[in-house]
Amino acid sequence: MVAKAKYRKDYKTPDFTITDIFLDFQLDPQRTLVTAKSLVKRLNPQATQLRLDGHSFQFEQVQINQQPFSQYQQDGEGLTLDLSELAADEFELTINTILVPAENTSLQGLYQSGEALCTQCEAEGFRQITYMLDRPDVLARYTTRIVADKTTYPYLLSNGNKVACGELAEGKHWVEWQDPFPKPSYLFALVAGDFDLLQDHFVTRSGRQVTLELFVDKGNLNRADWAMASLKKAMKWDEERFGLEYDLDIYMIVAVDFFNMGAMENKGLNIFNSKFVLANPQTATDEDYMGIESVIAHEYFHNWTGNRITCRDWFQLSLKEGLTVFRDQEFSSDTGSRAVNRINNVRFLRTIQFAEDASPMSHPIRPEKVIEMNNFYTVTVYEKGAEVIRMLHTLLGEQKFQAGMQLYIAQNDGKAATCEDFVAAMEQASGIDLSQFRRWYSQSGTPELTVTDHYDAGKHCYQLTVVQHTPATADQMDKINLHIPLKIALYSENGDKISLQYEGRTLNDVLNVTQKEQVFEFHNVYQRPIPALLCDFSAPVKLDYNYEVEQLVTLLQFAENDFVRWDAAQMLWAKELRENLMRYQLEQSLQFSQSVLAAFGQVLVDYQQDIELTTLILTLPKETEFAEKVKTIDPEGIAVVRDFMLHTLAQQFKQQWLKIYNQIKLEQYRVVPEDIALRGLRNLCLSYLAFTEFGNSVVNQHYLYANNMTDSLAALNAASKAGLACRDNLLADFEQKWQQDGLVMDKWFALQATRPDENVLEIVQQLISHPSFNFNNPNRLRALVGSFVNQNPRHFHAIDGSGYRFLTDILLKLNETNPQVAARLIEPLIRFNRYDEQRQTLMKRALERLSEVENLSKDLFEKIEKALQA
Ligand code: TRP
Ligand code: ZN
Repeated sequence: MVAKAKYRKDYKTPDFTITDIFLDFQLDPQRTLVTAKSLVKRLNPQATQLRLDGHSFQFEQVQINQQPFSQYQQDGEGLTLDLSELAADEFELTINTILVPAENTSLQGLYQSGEALCTQCEAEGFRQITYMLDRPDVLARYTTRIVADKTTYPYLLSNGNKVACGELAEGKHWVEWQDPFPKPSYLFALVAGDFDLLQDHFVTRSGRQVTLELFVDKGNLNRADWAMASLKKAMKWDEERFGLEYDLDIYMIVAVDFFNMGAMENKGLNIFNSKFVLANPQTATDEDYMGIESVIAHEYFHNWTGNRITCRDWFQLSLKEGLTVFRDQEFSSDTGSRAVNRINNVRFLRTIQFAEDASPMSHPIRPEKVIEMNNFYTVTVYEKGAEVIRMLHTLLGEQKFQAGMQLYIAQNDGKAATCEDFVAAMEQASGIDLSQFRRWYSQSGTPELTVTDHYDAGKHCYQLTVVQHTPATADQMDKINLHIPLKIALYSENGDKISLQYEGRTLNDVLNVTQKEQVFEFHNVYQRPIPALLCDFSAPVKLDYNYEVEQLVTLLQFAENDFVRWDAAQMLWAKELRENLMRYQLEQSLQFSQSVLAAFGQVLVDYQQDIELTTLILTLPKETEFAEKVKTIDPEGIAVVRDFMLHTLAQQFKQQWLKIYNQIKLEQYRVVPEDIALRGLRNLCLSYLAFTEFGNSVVNQHYLYANNMTDSLAALNAASKAGLACRDNLLADFEQKWQQDGLVMDKWFALQATRPDENVLEIVQQLISHPSFNFNNPNRLRALVGSFVNQNPRHFHAIDGSGYRFLTDILLKLNETNPQVAARLIEPLIRFNRYDEQRQTLMKRALERLSEVENLSKDLFEKIEKALQA
């Protein structure tokens, strides 16, 4: 395999650009004819070779200024036109291609989803439609004419405004769309199909009326309301918080069942994985509702941060993704609970992003080297990218940050920009020096802050010494000091906050850590304080301070900041884990520290003070979360210790779980914060009760009386994890009820894949031939295979290598059908360096088997090569 890498440093402005493009699609799932007529402009007077990207279609012909043109060379990745004979600097280029969408299982370019036809062009999917300057710094005005059968495809959609339509012979019709905003090819979209349509409208703050259209599969109209409400909420919020208004007269969203990721922000025509659109109380959980709201918002926010201002090249991806994730997180925090959102986001980042940064795929939020761009839609670019924006927000404050946003938009609207353009605007608008801060864009890895302290009782002086160190990563040996905002607070032993003072001045609670080692001094401290460090997770770093259990218990009980309380609980959980893992390895009996149990007991007693926080504090971290707390991962040991902790808590607080479970009464299902919080706590009680003698009857009743999916699923999950007698009946009932509904069955597949049973792999293998399973549907694959390899570490990492062999077999097949999804599923296999030698050997063997495959995709090649090189 010869896969060529691209480097950020090699960026060159394009020799040619396309100002206008006229696309004509004669749609047919078996044979779609595409005519692309582009107005090409030579930008570099010396350039004679026009290189176009394109593959995976049948190429018919090329014309220049309506004359057949034959001075070209074709290869597997594109077409090079020799224009040395052409004097004109502007000309019309016409290309004809033929596509077979029904056979396109890659779900990039034009493909079939159910009965509909749709496109996915980010990052480099447009080149599967026609030969194109398929790079984000080529911005063109698009006109799209679609011709198709009227019965099968009553709706023909594309970006922008519908400008004309008409009827044709043989039951066909046509529609023409025009997008007034120049855009890169990755934002192009086309959809054709028969849908149910939910229509609404939004009046912008300047008084313009925008038509909102949501297209869902026939019969799904009763699952569309939440998505529409979310869209309107997002539009309003973006006006209020960022001063940004929508710019076209129509905004369309289409939900499709076959989709590689979450959703796509195509200009004026978002295409969504139906998982992030469809919801009603019977089919969706509270978590699904929240996920829909935030993905709808995310794609909407891209209209400014992504579409109006796009990326110069794909190395700049975090420019739009990090910023847009930051914006969607702020939306959720402003419209819901800020603390809960922060906790959930931090939990995700610490588990998934930290693991990625410690893996062979480690890269800065702005990567330097890419073979397959699809491999860089990562938690690092997205979530760590959002943390970098959040740090800017912390350093600048809301007002200066918003000034920076306005300046960034004023300077870059209608252009393809870089991360540097963004930081420069922030710097210019705020007057704050960001030269050292910029290193966050180029340095990978998770920095570690080691904090020690000294209290001088005589001088009433307290000192914190902060040392920063970023361990080497797979992609980068040498690390330099970063500018790290470290938010702190000091507490007294009875939980009062001590103000931060230095020589009579009150200090800001955000310390600027910029050196290898720094000492911060605080005055007028009249007793030895308990430091709360990295409050609100003010930077994406690991923190090491040697806390006493009592100090953590104090923070857990008294800190005024919810995040600090939760984080203290996490440190207590981690301490219990590490101590018991040691005992497990020494074959000693396991024990739960009494003071920690007592502290958790107190949280439970006070649950009415804060329902959500109680739930978050008492939720036992997942095995994957615990894995991040140890050096070498012992999947078996972690599972055993976690089970022990689960049983201990269940037994210890049996009466309290039952009491609270019975106290919480909810009638009609409503998706409102108060009820979501109460359901969350009640279902947490249920999950512990499952491990007591009440388990079987309470869980069975819970399922029987559930009037919504959140509760049904909580019962199923409790039954499955605790192996209750009612489990098989409940699972069968659910399967029977929902077998026609793929999205709901995904919950069932995931439950099966995460069973604790010894024979779970056998069950998973059998389910591949379940009638509701479909190997070509990424949602089904992620639910069954993805859940097994990511959420059932004890069995995926079985010491006989059976889990690795299973995944390898799946990947061999997926390599051919959908490489993008294959490259996501392979992740747990390339992270062998975290395991013992025996597992490492087995995992490497699996990777070698894959690497020998004849037609290995770039997607898999890039990851396997990195892993085996390390
Ligand atoms: N830009 C999209 C988003 O963040 C995600 C995306 C990138 C995507 N590539 C994709 C979605 C491929 C589907 C398929 O919202
Ligand atoms: Zn995005």
